[in-house]
Amino acid sequence: MQDLTVETVTDDVLAQMATTTDPRLREVMGSLVRHLHDFARDVKLTPDEWLTAISFLTRVGQTCTPARQEFILLSDVLGLSALVNLLHDREAAELGTTSSLLGPFYRQDAPEVPLGGSIAVDGKGPELLLWGRVTDTDGHPVPGALVQLWQTNAEGWYDLQVDGGAATDMRGNVRCDAEGWFHVRTVKPLGYSIPMDGPVGALVHQQRRHGCRPAHIHFLIGAPGYRELVTALYFGDDPHIDSDTVFGVSGPLVVGAVAEDPAAPVRGIPSVRYDFQLAREAAAGGGRVGADPKQVMAAE
Ligand code: BEZ
Ligand code: FE
Repeated sequence: MQDLTVETVTDDVLAQMATTTDPRLREVMGSLVRHLHDFARDVKLTPDEWLTAISFLTRVGQTCTPARQEFILLSDVLGLSALVNLLHDREAAELGTTSSLLGPFYRQDAPEVPLGGSIAVDGKGPELLLWGRVTDTDGHPVPGALVQLWQTNAEGWYDLQVDGGAATDMRGNVRCDAEGWFHVRTVKPLGYSIPMDGPVGALVHQQRRHGCRPAHIHFLIGAPGYRELVTALYFGDDPHIDSDTVFGVSGPLVVGAVAEDPAAPVRGIPSVRYDFQLAREAAAGGGRVGADPKQVMAAE
């Protein structure tokens, strides 16, 4: 038996975990232990600090419900969700439209909206037309692609945050036509704060960060044979466009509304055209960094 030291304990743990039969689990847990131990040595973690962290993580877990995922929010504000997205994009067989976070406000059961219909049930706020084409990475249309979109209203709230989510608003699923075109009416969303009333919000406050996301519209686009695209379009005129609390913005996803676009399928309202490119499906495994919280609760 060897005496444990600050330097040797890591190898002892790795040696004991070497019996793990699943090779990916062995790799992931081995690396996690190495990095965690290096972190503790690096900052000379004290017992009090360790207990503070345990208590924080406990509160994060206790804040999770079928309607709220505080662990995903933690991953978001630490930039881990953004990093997992970037890693996922790097593995794609082809370079399609850049991904972005799914976020906590996606719902599986959004209503179908016909082409040209509106997702803004309450309709308050400046009108906006979203239109464009879904193609493959060579520019060939993807007929019948399903475009799911969701956003805040013009006051910066998702429907789920109003009256306990009593009414569905500002979300819908639109099917592209045979040439891959879609258009849908909405109102311009407003930027908003991430949920700040839980332990993650307290951390963000302590770090003197503003906690805001710039105005955006989420998209989840799929078609058989293509890699599901999870992304969002961000409005360049938002004051937080360069300081998103959850690191979802990237240059190719920044848009601006055009007051009067002669090419738009509906005239007389400002519009945003965006053409989405889907990569071919090459490997199994989804690209959703985020989830409907009730799915996370239900997962094994
Ligand atoms: C969102 O875009 O809906 C979102 C993403 C991460 C954290 C909070 C909100
Ligand atoms: Fe969002």
